[in-house]
Amino acid sequence: MAAPSLPSLLLLSSLLLLLAASPPPSASAAASRGSFLKLPLLHRPSRTPQLLRRGRSRSAASPVTSAAPFGAGQYLVALHLGTPPQRLLLVADTGSDLVWARCSACRGAGCSRRAPGSAFLARRSSSFRPHHCYSASCRLVPRPSPPPRCNRTRLHSACRYEYTYSDGSLSSGFFARETVSLHTTSAKTKAAAARLKGLAFGCGFRVSGPSVTGSSFNGSQGVMGLGRGPISFASQLGRRFGSNKFSYCLKDYTLLPSPTSYLIIGDRPSADNAAAASPLAFTPLLANPLAPSFYYVGIKRVSVDGERLPIDPSVWSLDDLGNGGTILDSGTTLTFLAEPGYRPLLAAMRRRVGLPAAAAAAPGFDLCVNVTGAGRRPRLPRLSFEMEGGAVLAPPAGNYFIDVAKGVRCLAVRPAGAAAEGGGFSVIGNVMQQGFLWEFDVDRSRLGFSRRGCAAS
Ligand SMILES: *[C@@H]1O[C@H](CO)[C@@H](O)[C@H](O)[C@H]1NC(C)=O
Ligand SMILES: *[C@@H]1O[C@H](CO)[C@@H](O)[C@H](O)[C@H]1NC(C)=O
Ligand SMILES: *[C@@H]1O[C@H](CO)[C@@H](O)[C@H](O)[C@H]1NC(C)=O
Repeated sequence: MAAPSLPSLLLLSSLLLLLAASPPPSASAAASRGSFLKLPLLHRPSRTPQLLRRGRSRSAASPVTSAAPFGAGQYLVALHLGTPPQRLLLVADTGSDLVWARCSACRGAGCSRRAPGSAFLARRSSSFRPHHCYSASCRLVPRPSPPPRCNRTRLHSACRYEYTYSDGSLSSGFFARETVSLHTTSAKTKAAAARLKGLAFGCGFRVSGPSVTGSSFNGSQGVMGLGRGPISFASQLGRRFGSNKFSYCLKDYTLLPSPTSYLIIGDRPSADNAAAASPLAFTPLLANPLAPSFYYVGIKRVSVDGERLPIDPSVWSLDDLGNGGTILDSGTTLTFLAEPGYRPLLAAMRRRVGLPAAAAAAPGFDLCVNVTGAGRRPRLPRLSFEMEGGAVLAPPAGNYFIDVAKGVRCLAVRPAGAAAEGGGFSVIGNVMQQGFLWEFDVDRSRLGFSRRGCAAS
């Protein structure tokens, strides 16, 4: 990142993990319903980022990344890991499962030269425990190939993992257990620290690829996978909070000062008046056995200014081989649509935008308009998605026409790569999700969203 944004750096120092109105999660394996965990989400802008596609790989070769000069990036969550706790910032990612942090085996004086918090120092934690390579837990993570030999009777045979993202980025190291510290608040008692033992996470010694290194990853030490699989943070904590559900609001990061967004694990508090006043619209979460981490939704129709685009519905759906489909991914910045859906959308946007093209289109974008002289809120075509079950997602124009330079706005929707390149499926990225409350209810297999639900959280 060429120029880190000050507001987000300042926010970092005031982070707390808040656990509201609940017994500490370590108190029992199944905390009562109605308890939840609330974590602030920080936005990390990045001046020269890749267009990230961080979902778990479904095919061996999958170069879908391209670069674009675009000032948006990731939402980060702070996690306090180990004994004593070490603070780490992780990218909140609904497109993958594994929770992992960059790890360092460093000990002694040499370590202090590193920037504090640049990696998890496993040797400085008394509660760090690698899983044994023969354990059931070790079967939950992808292993390096060929898998390392595992001697069942040898005590110190750590479980090695190798986790690949769809652009070929990789994290590999030891799959381990650690204690997480949560600052808890309950209705009656004052704030207290709770310790949650046994969070399964990847201690990443080898990390490579554009999604997990370089400028787009600057400021974060790992990924908090919130996907649908058993090892994700949402699944591991959801089980302890009695409901496999989480929700978040991604607030508009272009506002100053940056508003705080939250990730909530478990049931949202019932005192959340704004959410109560604006009920969620629901669409079923669809499952793909070949990509079990992803939260798939069904798109039925796409409209621009109320005009239904002539797109065959099969463009949006999963086929029998598990190809295609549409996922919601907080770890991907822009929205990617399958090519046969993208072309008519681009054509309709061009036809209806009614603003002059920008003199120099920003690389990586197909449609950029000059909004100089179009007023503070230029009129842009309205985009809406009709979802399975009848819910309609009608995002504000700022979610798909983003500021790229002074007076220049570009369509922040891109064509998804071909299926043969690990693409072929559509991704609703985090810019498109801004300003909505999203509730991922895995137990009931549904996704809820509300345009007005963000106010109280
Ligand atoms: C990462 O950010 C720091 C400041 O937070 C900056 O000094 C450094 O140059 C950045 N690195 C990259 C690769 O962008
Ligand atoms: C497994 O480890 C045990 C104890 O360290 C050792 O006695 C045994 O020879 C090892 N087996 C193999 C196949 O390496
Ligand atoms: C936008 O239009 C104004 C005139 O209305 C012009 O001065 C400016 O150079 C244009 N900018 C771009 C990037 O096209």
